Amino acid sequence: MDSSEFYGFLANRASIRSYSGDALEPEALAYILSCASTAPSAGNLESWDVVVVTDPEQRNQLAEAALEQAHVNEAPTVLVVCANYVRAMSRYGDRGILYALCDASIAATYMMLGAHARGLSSCWTGVFDDDDVRTVLGLPQHIRPLVLLTVGPGEQTTGMTARLPVEEHVHLDSW
Ligand SMILES: Cc1cc2nc3c(=O)[nH]c(=O)nc-3n(C[C@H](O)[C@H](O)[C@H](O)COP(=O)(O)O)c2cc1C
Repeated sequence: MDSSEFYGFLANRASIRSYSGDALEPEALAYILSCASTAPSAGNLESWDVVVVTDPEQRNQLAEAALEQAHVNEAPTVLVVCANYVRAMSRYGDRGILYALCDASIAATYMMLGAHARGLSSCWTGVFDDDDVRTVLGLPQHIRPLVLLTVGPGEQTTGMTARLPVEEHVHLDSW
């Protein structure tokens, strides 16, 4: 893949919130999870975990926890990507909290792009009640849910959504 193909791959992804409902093939799920395991992480500790949710009742409860966002229920698979605080804090103390959040965020991003590479739709879903998600999934206290990544066959992307001019983000040499 050359650099323009890579840019095209990124620019063709968009959040999709409508799914056809077919379950992911085990091989496709394994591919997406393998992509996540290539992600960089602080100290290579991989301070992230994922709960793969396919059960319709569990998805229904996750959708309620996500303030009734219907796509969470509609998607055949929800990858609940979590920061594992204990794993990172065992080496980095309080700073491990930040690193675990970074590790989980990067792993979730790789899952999202892995799904895109397989022609699957996804939506990073960050609006949810932490405690409700904890209760639904039985998460221990040191595990923080970061994203409900909905994945499945979905609508075709309509192309990249609008972005700020990149210059708005960039500061040269100092702020
Ligand atoms: C941290 C974060 C939280 C998000 N939470 C939600 C959400 O709860 N529900 C939703 O529909 N989309 C959510 N999104 C998706 C964004 O709305 C979307 O990425 C943004 O509008 C850009 O559109 P695009 O993904 O199609 O490029 C979230 C994205 C991020 C990165």
